[in-house]
Amino acid sequence: MIPKSWRSLRRAACFAILTIFACLTIPVLAASDAAGAKTIFRKRCTACHTFGKGVKVGPDLKGVTERRTRDWLLRFIRSSSGTIQSGDPTATKLFREFKQERMPDWDDLSPEQIASILDYFALNGPEQKEPDERHAITATADELKMGRDLFHGSVRLTHGGRACDTCHSIGAGEPVRDGSLGPDLSSVYRRYQDRALTDYLKRPCFLRDPEVSTNHYLSPQESFALKAYMAQRAGLAIAAVVPPKETAGKTAPSNGTK
Ligand code: HEC
Ligand code: HEC
Repeated sequence: MIPKSWRSLRRAACFAILTIFACLTIPVLAASDAAGAKTIFRKRCTACHTFGKGVKVGPDLKGVTERRTRDWLLRFIRSSSGTIQSGDPTATKLFREFKQERMPDWDDLSPEQIASILDYFALNGPEQKEPDERHAITATADELKMGRDLFHGSVRLTHGGRACDTCHSIGAGEPVRDGSLGPDLSSVYRRYQDRALTDYLKRPCFLRDPEVSTNHYLSPQESFALKAYMAQRAGLAIAAVVPPKETAGKTAPSNGTK
């Protein structure tokens, strides 16, 4: 028999784990919405539409969330043919203007997916730079720390896969595990420079590694943090903006009153 106290301890532990898990998944879901919208836009829309670069096969979609209502957009994107057939004047006019090609009906996309695409447009998402396109010199202290933690495995990579230091060393003074398979990376940033290293990090360096697939390797944030860490190790002078974190301690003199 398992003693009662042990069982309740286990229940408490389960509850704590579930709570942590729930807290972690909520922000991740919001981020994956935006990522989903971006993927859909790239795969299904850019063949015919630009965002801010003019008419292609269909109209430029920049500003579309301002020139049309959300209801109209939801209806039109899911079924432009139905909207045209219903005699909707805007749809009919567009159809006449772009008569060489008709927009396919995207009825396999859920209303939620279309809503997330519209949010992405409203925030000028397609024009935003990817985090990993930033130059390493702009890294904050937190990002440098993140890069270091990811490299040495104290923080896990979002898409799984082994920490970099299981195969790479990165100069003296850093804990090295069995870093032997891959080359030492302490000066790799100097050889590649910023842009080429970003490109290099888009694909796993060790393709035979069964844990990682080419599609899901590093998130752009992770890639940037790792690049910045390698840049720092290679001696790039990063000003590292330190976020103000002392305020909490200063504003709370602990005399028990408010
Ligand atoms: C095969 C080409 C093609 C693809 C792919 C395509 N569209 Fe279109 N789109 C058009 C055309 C052409 C029009 C103009 C209306 C018409 O002729 O049907 C249009 C019109 C639109 C409009 C109305 C624009 C305005 O100014 O009011 C929106 C919004 C839109 N498309 C969104 C999308 C989204 C979102 C995707 C991807 C999920 C997409 N389109 C994929 C061809 C395409
Ligand atoms: C399973 C072992 C392994 C892991 C894990 C690994 N690498 Fe590598 N890496 C290699 C090997 C092997 C090479 C050499 C590949 C080649 O030269 O074709 C390499 C090459 C590189 C290079 C280019 C080095 C040069 O001199 O051209 C960079 C940059 C790099 N890895 C970064 C990373 C980062 C960042 C991580 C962690 C996200 C990582 N690697 C994880 C094995 C690994």
